[in-house]
Amino acid sequence: MRKPIVVGNWKLNGTEAGNEALVAGVLSEMSNLADIDVAVCPPFVYVPQVVGLAKGTALGVGGQNCSEQSSGAFTGEVAPEMLSDVGARYVILGHSERRALYGETDEIVSEKVKAALHAGLTPILCVGETLEEREADETEAVVRQQLAAVIAGNGIKAFERMVIAYEPVWAIGTGRTASPEQAQQVHAFIRGQLDSHDARVAQSVRIQYGGSVKPGNAAELFGQPDIDGGLIGGASLKAEDFLGICRAAADTVG
Ligand code: PGA
Repeated sequence: MRKPIVVGNWKLNGTEAGNEALVAGVLSEMSNLADIDVAVCPPFVYVPQVVGLAKGTALGVGGQNCSEQSSGAFTGEVAPEMLSDVGARYVILGHSERRALYGETDEIVSEKVKAALHAGLTPILCVGETLEEREADETEAVVRQQLAAVIAGNGIKAFERMVIAYEPVWAIGTGRTASPEQAQQVHAFIRGQLDSHDARVAQSVRIQYGGSVKPGNAAELFGQPDIDGGLIGGASLKAEDFLGICRAAADTVG
């Protein structure tokens, strides 16, 4: 039985005052969410603030990216060791916005995974196809390649310490979510890819769905056999919406 995990990806949003209110809202219901893992990923500068607000609670905190370097002359970068030093537990890696807007290749993502694992963080590895790729019937080829690079660079056992997020690019921030069947099909494919290397790892790894998850569609998505929670963008910025999604994940347990 895999424990569902719901993570809020705040992207480039937040203020000290707004974060405080949002986290307080989420924390008000954390005691009902003991059967799932819940975390939020604020922009770097707010990670220490949110770690402080979540202290002593089950709410985890993560970064949205990190460097593949641990120190040195890399102006503007943030090392995974720094994230763990300030109390983060997770880091989102290979998000489609990083891949598309900041030129992150499969190889760079694999290096970042290695660095994050070395620093003791749990990487949330994002994979997913664009609309063009889906329409050209390339979804499986794209996802296979994204996974293969990380397996080649880190070994299959590394996935015991990771979370995967399947995020079809055409569903991110568009209000157009994958149908539960479309998502399940790719989640099963991802698990199958891992299974060809190690059956035990494939069964244990948690695969989140991401892309326009809302309180109204979360239950159907999370009800699929290979969907183990969600990576939530827009809807993670409102405590009530994020909690609605968390509740849907908790309802799949037990
Ligand atoms: P969305 O974003 O929920 O706003 O579609 C998901 C993500 O990019 O992680």
